[in-house]
Amino acid sequence: MYRLDKFSKIGVFDSGLGGLSVLHTIRQIMPNESLIYIGDSGNAPYGTKEKSEVLNLSKKVCDTLVSKDVKAIVIACNTATSAAVNELRRAYDIPIIGMEPAIKPALRQTEGKVLLLATEMTLKEEKFHQLVDSLEEGYRIIKMPAPEWVQLVENHMSESDYVKKEVEGFLDKVTEKIDAIVLGCTHFIFLKPYIMAYYKDQVEIFDGNMGTALQLKNLLESHKWLNDNSEMGSVEIINTKSGVFVKKSYEMFDWLEMRDEF
Ligand code: DGL
Repeated sequence: MYRLDKFSKIGVFDSGLGGLSVLHTIRQIMPNESLIYIGDSGNAPYGTKEKSEVLNLSKKVCDTLVSKDVKAIVIACNTATSAAVNELRRAYDIPIIGMEPAIKPALRQTEGKVLLLATEMTLKEEKFHQLVDSLEEGYRIIKMPAPEWVQLVENHMSESDYVKKEVEGFLDKVTEKIDAIVLGCTHFIFLKPYIMAYYKDQVEIFDGNMGTALQLKNLLESHKWLNDNSEMGSVEIINTKSGVFVKKSYEMFDWLEMRDEF
């Protein structure tokens, strides 16, 4: 049996690069925590797979994180959360923090239609239906799966002209007037500048990253497991897809000061 304490690391994972946006937010509000990130790019996308497959992949990633003695795991992926959070909470004896599309704040802070972009699995799963059913104004949500955006981020992040064109082509299909967009997939956070440019800053964009990071912080606080070390924590990045391509992708994230490790 391993021993965990407040100095243990926090595990964060996603189907690929998307969860790096969550890692970044966690790093901003808890810089002294040490983090291990696993991007399962070798098996991305999760959003178009069977639920059982996503559950198995998520378990495999969590086994690796647990073997590295993490004190908590953040599922930095809406899709893996909807497919696996309950089972993962049953399987492991540490806090598991999941994500859900930030439709509650979006409905609270805007009046018109809210466009929710997420993966097919997130939109299909029971967890999402329960969330929408619990909301009085759920009728204001327009759901749109955007699996091509996952691939766009996984494979083309460095080709900005191509990304711009693809994002514009996709948003051209939205015919209704919208007031807000919820990015219900962590990959999409990296497309935010293109989305903002398309709508000329006239829509509000919501995501669940800060809410998730704050939830993690509260949970650690309540366990008295917040790292009170005054030094910056370490960040270790693991990706299941090896090679030059992944290194190049990570280099895009200039705040990842550990990128030389590849
Ligand atoms: N980043 C994941 C999410 O937040 C999904 C990407 C995928 O389909 O693999 O839902």
